[in-house]
Amino acid sequence: MLIQGATGFAGRLAVKVARLLGAGRIVATGRDDEQLREVQAIGADTVINTAVSDEALAQAYLDAKGDGYDVVLDYLWGRPTEILLRALAPRSFTLGTPTRVVQIGGSAGPELTLAASSLRTSGVEIYGAAKGLNPETLGEVFQQVATWTRSGELTFDVEKVPLSDIETAWQRTDLKGKRLVVVP
Ligand SMILES: NC(=O)c1ccc[n+]([C@@H]2O[C@H](COP(=O)([O-])OP(=O)(O)OC[C@H]3O[C@@H](n4cnc5c(N)ncnc54)[C@H](OP(=O)(O)O)[C@@H]3O)[C@@H](O)[C@H]2O)c1
Repeated sequence: MLIQGATGFAGRLAVKVARLLGAGRIVATGRDDEQLREVQAIGADTVINTAVSDEALAQAYLDAKGDGYDVVLDYLWGRPTEILLRALAPRSFTLGTPTRVVQIGGSAGPELTLAASSLRTSGVEIYGAAKGLNPETLGEVFQQVATWTRSGELTFDVEKVPLSDIETAWQRTDLKGKRLVVVP
């Protein structure tokens, strides 16, 4: 599988959860080598730095894909995902393997250009993250996360700040994969 935006809070959590669910091979992307090393330490097998030329990034997605990406968890959209979708289109008359792209966030941009060839023979299917969710499945997911958290199998990198500091906390840009928890 491929996790786009794995250096963020949600992406790091996705890497950990994918490991707990037994994912075979996890490829993870980010923009900073130091943070990407941390993402490897928590479970990614291969990392890709997206802060390279469009050509180099397309090649990196192809080099890392092995037998193909079964699932892509996409927290980025924008440029990196546009390049990924172009890269997954077969160059010759072969059919691509099924790749389920799950759209979750838009940290790299709210829009992208989708080439017709990115869908025609690539095997790519694009889903919204809410597909198939209902109160029952949400309850099950919550219970699973709570169980892992209680047992210590799943940890969250959080920083607590008092509500009185909300004005400065709101403007923080140094979180590097941590979530701020505001304590009233
Ligand atoms: N639908 C849902 O239920 C749901 C749930 C959670 C999150 N989200 C969405 O998912 C996204 C990520 O959330 P988060 O909490 O993980 O945010 P975050 O901690 O701020 O992480 C953002 C990620 O995006 C990367 N990024 C930011 N700007 C980028 C750019 N211009 N080009 C390439 N990469 C860029 C960051 O890389 P660096 O580490 O280098 O900054 C990091 O990997 C957000 O859009 C959020 O709204 C949706």
